[in-house]
Amino acid sequence: MPQILDGKALAKIIKGELAAQVASMKAAGQRPPHLAAVLVGDDPASQVYVRNKVRACEEVGFDSTLIRKPAQIEQAELLATIQELNADPLIDGFIVQLPIPKHLDEEAVTLAIDPRKDVDGFHPVNFGRMAQGLPAYLPATPLGILEMLRRYEIATEGAHAIVVGRSHIVGTPMALLLSRKAYPGNCTVTLCHSRTRDIAAELRRADIVVAAIGKAEFITGDMIKEGAVVIDVGINRVEDPLARKGYRLKGDVHFETVAPKASYITPVPGGVGPMTVTSLLLNTLKAARKEIYD
Ligand code: GUN
Repeated sequence: MPQILDGKALAKIIKGELAAQVASMKAAGQRPPHLAAVLVGDDPASQVYVRNKVRACEEVGFDSTLIRKPAQIEQAELLATIQELNADPLIDGFIVQLPIPKHLDEEAVTLAIDPRKDVDGFHPVNFGRMAQGLPAYLPATPLGILEMLRRYEIATEGAHAIVVGRSHIVGTPMALLLSRKAYPGNCTVTLCHSRTRDIAAELRRADIVVAAIGKAEFITGDMIKEGAVVIDVGINRVEDPLARKGYRLKGDVHFETVAPKASYITPVPGGVGPMTVTSLLLNTLKAARKEIYD
């Protein structure tokens, strides 16, 4: 059986390191890093994600501010909120939790965030800097995956990595980062998506698989090469009347058939998810220290 990539345990270690950094900042007379999160509407999954982010701030001693707005908010009011956060010297970084309601323009919202405070790394300035290997806030999920590969000392050089899913948040930046001349990186990368002719045939050649599709248990054991490293980004709610909440969380990977063939695999939950949250904290610390921009 494979080694489980325990994101929950790793996140705990990283949070301990962050708490120590906060302590030394405070000892030096500095205020702790401050993250703000804007949550529009009441999407249940988004509420959970934002709550986890705020709780993680508390755990490491960061300040946090949660700004809730009704689903009916107008575009202009949301943009005004973003401008206030851009201008507030006591906020180091902030995020607008996605998705936002359909009547709002997600692209305009992303563009309105000052790149210096864009700790999600979604602004095109940060994306472009990442693509060119310049200092940038890296998007939290890909950054968390890189950190996991690094801390488990997984070899990546020359590996054939297959990323499934081309979202701006995960798949596209992940493919770029794995191809960079760096560790983790130096992979030969194939980016698969809904129009790929034969995803199973592509996957069977993969040494490293990153699944960010958003379809429960899409990748099955017959698609995986013996010894592959399997990273599952999916967090899909699947109805289950027997579960306490009426649903169960399933990854994009069919764990039961894939795990026996993998060398390493992330569980869902407890794999990539907790690493994503610690990456956001890491970016917020960098913002407070002005490591990327001064
Ligand atoms: N929705 C899903 N993932 C993310 C994320 O990393 N950041 C934000 N702001 N929204 C998300």
